[in-house]
Parts: sequence; structure tokens; C-alpha cells
Amino acid sequence: MGRPVLILDFGSQYTQLIARRVRELGIYAEIYPFNRSRAEIEAFGAGAIILSGGPNSVTSEEAPTIGAWIFEQGVPVLGICYGLQLTCQLLGGRVAASDDREYGPAEIRLTEEGSPLTRGLSAVQGVWMSHGDRVEALPEGFSILAQTDSTPFAMIGCEARQLYGVQFHPEVHHTPEGLKLLQNFCFGIAGLRSDWSMADFLERKAQEIQAQVGSDRVICGLSGGVDSSVVAALLQQAIGDQLTCIFVDHGMLRQGERQQVKALFGSHFESDLRVIDAEAEFLDALAGVSDPEQKRKIIGRLFVEVFEREAKGLEGAKWLAQGTLYPDVIESVSPLGGPSVTIKSHNNVGGLPERMGLGLVEPLRELFKDEVRALGRELGLPDHLVQRHPFPGPGLAVRCPGVITRDRLETLRAADHILIEELYSSGWYHRCWQALCVLLPVRSVGVMGDERTYEEVLSVRAVTSTDGMTADWVQLPHELLGRIASRIVNEVRGVNRVLYDITSKPPGTIEWE
Ligand code: XMP
Repeated sequence: MGRPVLILDFGSQYTQLIARRVRELGIYAEIYPFNRSRAEIEAFGAGAIILSGGPNSVTSEEAPTIGAWIFEQGVPVLGICYGLQLTCQLLGGRVAASDDREYGPAEIRLTEEGSPLTRGLSAVQGVWMSHGDRVEALPEGFSILAQTDSTPFAMIGCEARQLYGVQFHPEVHHTPEGLKLLQNFCFGIAGLRSDWSMADFLERKAQEIQAQVGSDRVICGLSGGVDSSVVAALLQQAIGDQLTCIFVDHGMLRQGERQQVKALFGSHFESDLRVIDAEAEFLDALAGVSDPEQKRKIIGRLFVEVFEREAKGLEGAKWLAQGTLYPDVIESVSPLGGPSVTIKSHNNVGGLPERMGLGLVEPLRELFKDEVRALGRELGLPDHLVQRHPFPGPGLAVRCPGVITRDRLETLRAADHILIEELYSSGWYHRCWQALCVLLPVRSVGVMGDERTYEEVLSVRAVTSTDGMTADWVQLPHELLGRIASRIVNEVRGVNRVLYDITSKPPGTIEWE
């Protein structure tokens, strides 16, 4: 593989997006927090370095910073927003704090022709600007490449040292020519190669897994979701019959999920698949429980117990495969400080490998979600699986406020199936990050035919999001909402009223519990 890009994170909300854009160019990129040691940064062997944006002012004392040695690595450096300010400050320019933050769309004009950074870019173009501090004097050797009406230093560069800075975000979609700019930086300036592809990744990973596990048996917990399915398919390809997949049916899955997993992994991939029917065990333990955190705890504990019981019987099992993704392993920089609060205990099976004395195989640790999907396609997983919405580990339990019963789950499953079917056939499924139904423990009066009904209320939710951390509700067409509601009321037993949830996150969460 060619030389990668190192992105140093100074706390911008867009840092991961920079890495994704670089990878879209076919160049491997990793994110390190700004305060990693010089030795670690140098050992990474970057072919180019990007300094991210961040919410701080470089003039404040607590501002995250780095030594000027970062500019002496013999590779090009691009500073974005805060990264530009920092470049100026560290190299002897002058930066002053300013009270007015400019954030949002702006128009830049190129002021100098012939810079490799601006090659092929329009003379005037829209960008997504972000700045708080004001550069007052450039470091020696730098010149201005672009300006706006209010920012004289919108793009700067020192061609001799291949150091650059942009005061806007080239990584966001609101900067239409941003990808072209990153392309200029990575290919034109740094001379990097485009050789990060899922086909190569697959080949390299398969070899790594073989070397890691030798002839040992590996256990993989399948959930029916994208990540665990990709892990299983990858392991199946890498180590074949040394793999055992375990699928725990806790009774709170989507319609047809168990059959789909069986068809795909049992039949199609011919994996050694153990399907555990644990519905009764889970539902008995959940009987009468309505507190959301208690539900999650019971499910998490039981899941570990059931899984462990099954796995113990497997001879020679030394490894547990997990679908940990890159966003889970990036050390986050919290520049604004303050304690983070646990909103929900999402960690469904934490501690399982330690308890069972198993080593971990985490082949997706380097990948973003969209790359996992591309890898899934490469492995021959069907499109509907690869493109599937996220589904929570505790399943329908977190969509069933109040007590959980078989009947209520059945109602919820049937409604969910209709919602997903309608989103698919109208072309809206892939425009939503996630769509779900929640069965409320509230009854309302209705009329059907000549009869009075008194049944539960169902809430429909569809959101857009990039990472599940924030979300917005989707403005589904009224006609589609009407069809969904009428099908649910007519076809699903136990529901006579449908609501549409128009709460964003924050202040709401995606799931209701
Ligand atoms: P919330 O509801 O916190 O959800 O806005 C954010 C994303 O996480 C999923 N989610 C879970 N995933 N175990 C999981 O594996 C859980 O307990 C859990 N709770 C929520 C949720 O579906 C959404 O995609």
C-alpha cells in the first residue's frame, strides 16, 4: 500500500469526514489526536499531514497545539480552519482573537494563479467558511492564494515548503469544489497513490486473520445487522470451517430475520451456524419490567450468559470476532472539556471476551460504515443486507415502552415490516438513516366498520443522520405517511391510531428507550 495521510485532530466535528473524503480518493487515512507523541506520529510514516479544524482560539492558553516540528517531516501539510491559524501561529505569523465568528456559506476568489493547490478550481467559488480568530500577518514565505470580502487569508500557501492552509472546510458537501482541492493536495502536491480499495483490503485482511488465529477456532456472534454479517462473511472467506457463527434469537428481532440469517450463512455461505432459540428465556426474564435501563441490563446480561453457554461447548475456540468500526476506536478529542454523560447503556455485550478468556478478532477496526458496506458487496452479501438500517442490540425491546409481551412484539414486528416495505417501494428507504415503529402503552378509542375499538397507539419515526449522534426527522411525503398509517391500522392487530414523530436528536434520541 502507498503512503497514507495522517489527520491530526484538534476537535473539529468534521475530522472524521476529512478521513472519509481522503479515503474516497483511494488513499488510506488515519486520525490521531493532536497530542500523540512525536515518535508515534513519525512512526506512522505519513505521505501528507492534515491539521483539522477545532472550536478553540489559538490565542487562548488552553488551546490544543503541537510543536513546529510537525512542519519539518519532509511531507506536505494542509491546515484546515483552526489548522490554518495554528500553522500561522507556529511559524511566526500573527493571529489575533476576534469576537465575531464567521460560520456558513461564503464566496472565495482566487488571487494567485499557478498554485498546485488551486489547479482546476473555479476563480470564484462557494465554500463553507469557519473562523473565529483573525490572521493579521502571514509567516515568512507564505502568500495568499484566495480571499473573501471579510477574510483576506482564505487560502494560503508556502510552495517552497509545501505548507498550505484553508480557512474553510473542503471536506463538507457545502464546499462543492472541496474534493478537488483535497485531490490537488494529495495527488498533485504530495504525489500519493490511489490504491486503497476494498478488494485489496479484503486480500490483506484475510492474510492477517490467518496469521493471527493460526489453526484455532473463531466464534462470531451474528446479529442480522451489517457489521456482524460482514465480519462473518470475511472470516468465512479467510478461515472457512475454523469459523463458528452463533445467532441468538432473543425473540425481539425483525420479521423474518432468523430465516434470513439461516438462509445466508447456513445455506449460502455454508458456515457452521448455531441458531439458539432463547425467546422464552428472554421474555420470561423481561416479564413485567418496564424501566428502559432495567430492560437493557437484563437483555445484556442474558445475552452474555446464553452466548457463553453455547460457546463453551465449542472445542478449541480461542477467538471471538467482533464488528468494531473505526469511529469506535478513534480517540476522541474533547476540546471543550466537561464530563460526558451516559444517555443510554448501548454496550450490549461488553466484557464477553475477557469473561470467556478469548482473544479478539476485529477485522473492521480500520473501516468507516460506508467502507464496511463496500466490503460487504465485495464479499457477495446481498444489497438489501448491506444497505440495511441500523438496528439496536436489544432489538424491539427498546421500541416497546411499557411491559414487553409476545403479543405486543408481534404487533410491533408486523407494523415495522409494513413501514419498511412502504419505504422501499417508494424509494425512501435509502434516504433515511433509520426508520422504526414504537408501540406506545396508551390506548385510544377508534371506530372500525360499525364497531368501537380501544387499542394501542403506534408512533412511526424516520430520521436522517450521518453517525447516529445527531439526527433530524425526515419530511416524508404526506401521501406516503397516509398509506403507511392506513396499512398499519388495517393490517396490524392491536393498533388503531398512528402518529408521526417529528422530534430531532437532540433533544430526542432515535430510539424511544
Ligand atoms: P439513540 O436512541 O441513542 O440511538 O439516539 C443511536 C443509534 O444507536 C442505536 N442504538 C443501539 N444500538 N444497542 C445497540 O447496538 C443499543 O442498546 C442501542 N440503543 C440505540 C440506535 O438504533 C441508533 O442507530
